Amino acid sequence: MLFRLALAAFLLVAAPALAGPTATIASPDKVLSVEVTTDNDGRPSYTVARLGKPVIAPSRLGFILVDAPKLERNLVLAGEATRSFDETWEQPYGERRFIRNRYNELRVTLAEKNGLQRRFDVVFRVYDDGVGFRYEFPDQTNLKEVKIGEELTEFSLAEPATVWWIPAFEWNREEYLYHRTPVEEVGDAQTPMTVRTDNGLHIAFHEAALVDYSGMNLTRVEGRRFKANLTPGIGGPKVIRTAPFPTPWRTMQIADTAGGLVESNLVLNLNEPNALGDVSWIKPMKYVGVWWEMHLDKKTWASGEKHGATTENAIKHIDFAAKHGLGGVLVEGWNLGWDGDWFGNGQDFDFTKPYPDFDLKKVTDYARSKGVSLIGHNETSGNAAHYETQMGAAFDLYHSLGMSAVKTGYVADAGQAKVLGTDGQIHYAWHEGQDMARHHLKVVTEAAKRQVAINAHEPIKDTGLRRTYPNWISREGARGMEFSAWGQPGNPPEHEANLIFTRMLAGPMDYTPGIFGMKTKAPDGVATTWAKQLALYVTLYSPIQMAADLLENYEANPGPFKFIEDVPVDWSESHVLNGEIGDYVTIVRKDRKSDDWYLGAISDEEGRVLTVPLGFLEPGRRYKAQIYRDGDKADWKTAPQDIIIEEREVTSSDVLTLRLAPGGGQAIRFMAASKGKPRQ
Ligand code: NOJ
Ligand code: CA
Repeated sequence: MLFRLALAAFLLVAAPALAGPTATIASPDKVLSVEVTTDNDGRPSYTVARLGKPVIAPSRLGFILVDAPKLERNLVLAGEATRSFDETWEQPYGERRFIRNRYNELRVTLAEKNGLQRRFDVVFRVYDDGVGFRYEFPDQTNLKEVKIGEELTEFSLAEPATVWWIPAFEWNREEYLYHRTPVEEVGDAQTPMTVRTDNGLHIAFHEAALVDYSGMNLTRVEGRRFKANLTPGIGGPKVIRTAPFPTPWRTMQIADTAGGLVESNLVLNLNEPNALGDVSWIKPMKYVGVWWEMHLDKKTWASGEKHGATTENAIKHIDFAAKHGLGGVLVEGWNLGWDGDWFGNGQDFDFTKPYPDFDLKKVTDYARSKGVSLIGHNETSGNAAHYETQMGAAFDLYHSLGMSAVKTGYVADAGQAKVLGTDGQIHYAWHEGQDMARHHLKVVTEAAKRQVAINAHEPIKDTGLRRTYPNWISREGARGMEFSAWGQPGNPPEHEANLIFTRMLAGPMDYTPGIFGMKTKAPDGVATTWAKQLALYVTLYSPIQMAADLLENYEANPGPFKFIEDVPVDWSESHVLNGEIGDYVTIVRKDRKSDDWYLGAISDEEGRVLTVPLGFLEPGRRYKAQIYRDGDKADWKTAPQDIIIEEREVTSSDVLTLRLAPGGGQAIRFMAASKGKPRQ
């Protein structure tokens, strides 16, 4: 075993004192490097540097156990192994088709010097655009059942920084507006938590492959030092596992620009490859729904005069979807259980029995005849235990009816989900605790057996598991468009420009864009222009995208609706052309099925002029650009509907000037000419 005694530059930065031997590894192009060591007390720590400069100052590793001495001191570096990996894999659907997974790995073994002589490995995978590490507990005599009270992993920022974060452990789960504060003002934060150092480096902290473990939050301990704070379990320990097992990966995406974070594939790369085999049955699609009308109080989920989920209303939506080439229709409130106090309860829901005014067989037969898929809705109100008793039969039924996707829901306050414990009792649980992590994977794998895709609302956080289980097609997990429907302040104009650099680094979001009826119950209504609503289809990646508005608003506005009809949901390439967290962003994506490109640019409450070189287009080829831009008077507050739709011919050597209104945006389709002549 070879240990290098490296005199770390980080000695200048902070405690703990570096005393023991040091194991090091650098990324393939020597951009990032990691060092692991132990101090005089045998406490392990790691550091991360970028181009020789500290990014993460010495940060501790270890665990508190509830029934045994903690695993945090008295440890030695008992082993070190490195390896390199470089492979390109293909996504079945996604924001890009091919992903390169290239890293150098360092595995260190930490063993207790004396006493119980327990041991665990820490595995670091160092990429040029980020670092992931996880703990692995091997099979051993003195550590069989591991009851984790707390994970002691730290992340100590080396430099002053601004942080974008939402609070952890609050009642409304992930549905909060983002704070933008100096690092010293962060309290308990959820991940992804995104940081910009005063020197302009961007770092996003998150996790990958959250399997059979509790979600990680970050608590600022002091200064710029954060510590993992796991979501509680259902008993004393936050996590209970039997060795051997690995923890989820702790991730840091690290880039010069905010856009670099979005282009990083670190979280997906750290997940295991597709475990489902042939997944050609998973269909990315756009969908409409019996949905927004409920959020506007025009219809109800519950039965009665205003019941939204009638056979007739569903057929109207199927006709609309078929006419406009949209693949799916979501119907909420179709099944028994909505008439009582459903919020946070769930035991009244029946996932196979429709209300009498909703003829499930007739609706699904009709949908199939029109080439449209009915999207099921399973609101569980957080009662996972109840759902698990019915979901097998429900997925069997949906599969037999040709329903290819189900939107699940877990509406319950934080800590109020319900799970079945190993003691056979029902326990209250957190949405991101170990038991809910298990529950979601049970749902996804049971659904996969019946070729059903899952779009979870009020979900556990995304940690890239769609790579392993591609039928976990999208989820909510943040404040979606619905907040701008309700009688309370909705999403402010900066919200989406925050989401892209925070929540959406975790994975796709079912945000439900496409609103033209801006006046809602929210005091400011929907706080964007129409052009920005269109641009959201490109900027907010999801393989399923809702056209969320009332059908009548689309029927009355075929011009802007054309973009929603045209925009794909599956891409072969994606690039971020510019962007700052919470301010603005321009993203371009290439259609997976054609040579067309699409551009989306969005702004916050400020108007902006962005310069966009079209170098991403194929050189020498001509494109017809169909432009949907803010009109001269457009402003989210006063004239959101002021939109100009125009066409011009462009090539890759053109540079466009995008004028975005306050709360505005711009959407463009670049239609590739067949080689030589412009496309008509
Ligand atoms: C909250 C979800 O986000 C929303 O889309 C759904 O309509 C309601 N719950 C009812 O399930
Ligand atoms: Ca929600």
